[in-house]
Amino acid sequence: MRSLTTISTLILNPKGGCGKTTIATNLAAYYANAGHETVLMDCDRQGSSLHWHRLRSPDDPAITATTVHDQKASVTLAWQYRMPMGVGRMIIDSPAGIQPYELAEYLGRTHNVIVPILPSTLDMHATMEFIDVLQRTPEMRRQRVRVGVVANRVNDRTIVRRQLLNMLEELNIPLITRFRDTQNYVFVAGLGKGIHEMRHQRFVQDQRDWLPLITWLDERPLQHVPDPDLLTV
Ligand SMILES: Nc1ncnc2c1ncn2[C@@H]1O[C@H](COP(=O)(O)OP(=O)(O)O)[C@@H](O)[C@H]1O
Ligand SMILES: [Mg+2]
Repeated sequence: MRSLTTISTLILNPKGGCGKTTIATNLAAYYANAGHETVLMDCDRQGSSLHWHRLRSPDDPAITATTVHDQKASVTLAWQYRMPMGVGRMIIDSPAGIQPYELAEYLGRTHNVIVPILPSTLDMHATMEFIDVLQRTPEMRRQRVRVGVVANRVNDRTIVRRQLLNMLEELNIPLITRFRDTQNYVFVAGLGKGIHEMRHQRFVQDQRDWLPLITWLDERPLQHVPDPDLLTV
């Protein structure tokens, strides 16, 4: 195990289909392969991250997957999962449609927020409005939480960069990396694997795309030490 402290990362965007679960599951697989104890918390009733986890082979590096919902009873159990001692990385996959009043519950449990964004003008516009709301939360204003954007399903790098960077500059939010629009992500998801668990040459470019994100997540410029009770979900 590499680290004794927990770094918690929330994948957040009220918009469905922008890549939250894809990023959450790939990140969990990356950390598990890097030797961290890893918890994947699925907060979406659809349970896509849990489903992905069930597809994993017993030979794959272990990830603890859990949920805040009781899937059978369709009730919210509150955050009553108890974090094992010494967990290295926690990844929280959030549902679509999160409302501003729900943000505090999520932000209080995380160090980093990744906002995936699709390269369409409408998606970018909606996401910028959401980031604006995010920046007004007490957690962000007190610099308790860092927020970075990941452009997902990007084919034309130049157009997206220009539009996105202009928008993000106004909000003072970094664009961490961009992921290609590729069936590689669909393929690995169907195996219960992450892109970093694939050995074939065709995955190398996608694996490289993750490096800026991994680096950014591990930087810890904030002095904030989260309340241990809040990390005990
Ligand atoms: N970079 C990508 N390239 C191709 N398909 C992707 C990519 N990212 C996500 N997808 C696909 O898009 C769909 C929605 O992604 P998902 O991660 O489930 O979004 P969300 O959790 O935000 O609803 C899924 O079918 C997923 O496999
Ligand atoms: Mg999802």
